[in-house]
Amino acid sequence: MNNKRVLVATGGGDCPGLNAVIRAIVLRAAREKNWEVVGSINAFDGVLKEPNEIVVLDEKKVGGIHIRGGTIIGTTNKGGPFAWPIKNSDGTWGSADRSDEMLRRLQYMGVDAVINIGGDGSQQISKQLYEKGLNIIGVPKTIDNDLSATDFTFGFQTAVQEATMAVDKLVTTAASHNRVLVLEVMGRYAGWIALHSAVAGGAHVCLIPEIPYDINKVVDRIYGRFEKGKGFAIVVIAEGAKPIDGEMSFEQSNETGYANVRLGGVATKLIHELKNAGLDTDMRETVLGHLQRGGTPIAYDRVLATQFGVKAFEMVLNKEFGQMVAYRHPNIVSVSFDEAISHYNFVNPDSDLVKTARGVGICMGD
Ligand code: F6P
Repeated sequence: MNNKRVLVATGGGDCPGLNAVIRAIVLRAAREKNWEVVGSINAFDGVLKEPNEIVVLDEKKVGGIHIRGGTIIGTTNKGGPFAWPIKNSDGTWGSADRSDEMLRRLQYMGVDAVINIGGDGSQQISKQLYEKGLNIIGVPKTIDNDLSATDFTFGFQTAVQEATMAVDKLVTTAASHNRVLVLEVMGRYAGWIALHSAVAGGAHVCLIPEIPYDINKVVDRIYGRFEKGKGFAIVVIAEGAKPIDGEMSFEQSNETGYANVRLGGVATKLIHELKNAGLDTDMRETVLGHLQRGGTPIAYDRVLATQFGVKAFEMVLNKEFGQMVAYRHPNIVSVSFDEAISHYNFVNPDSDLVKTARGVGICMGD
């Protein structure tokens, strides 16, 4: 008989491996006799909607989902229980704190514990809910790999694989046309996807937010690859990269409840800057965008996501609330929410991987 209930939610941008976490939670819970797993549709919106949108997640429902991208219970990176979008009487949008109501609703639904799978924004919400008394556990996810408490987040390696395959393809067309091809990849304020895919794909220039670039250095490196008009170069640029004394390329979003700025456009900007600095080769940009987030997770991410899911449910059993699952090689451990969200995981410009990149001749823009 099921007399215990755990609610699972996926919040923030989606990420390859979310379904593998959900499946692992359900399969591990099924090994206990008395636990039922339910999912809230579109992060915590499912709990707060009237009528609520809660689905039972059983072994049948999660069969085979570990190989599917996205999340079967949906997600959102807008609003949330502490900033629920509401329309004011004058037609403008504001927000309301519905967290107390959410706790009451969870109690009414007989939810004993919550597992919140999400990035830094979602774990900030987890922390606040925990401080209000909710039995909650966090599971870190993001393709950006920018959470400092865990060695890796699942989804990151899949994004790197996509970006690397893009570099591989760009090499053949760049070489055929003697062009400079600039690949813009995601990562927000961290350059992990750019750095890994540049090394894996053998790019010639890699520009990341952590190392503001000098455009003249980039021009020199590219010219070094062209002889009498022949040659080609591949530049991988992270969406958050910026020139020395320059700004990141972003715009404010006008989507209701979307709190983040939208990064992007940096590849086009770089091509203008290269032209202005005197580079006269043909240049084209490719923006990889959400291709990095969609599709099937690679094996590495499926394994990590499965480990996270099993651990998260075992933390529920052990009542380790107020904690987030983390990977500290070779172990899967738990860390406090405070530690989980205390700072970003940026690329250290002095790290071995940056040294490796430089060692094989990749110009980091400095
Ligand atoms: O945080 C993951 C991420 O994919 C970032 O790399 C990117 O800047 C952002 O989300 C894009 O968000 P959206 O899906 O809202 O455009």
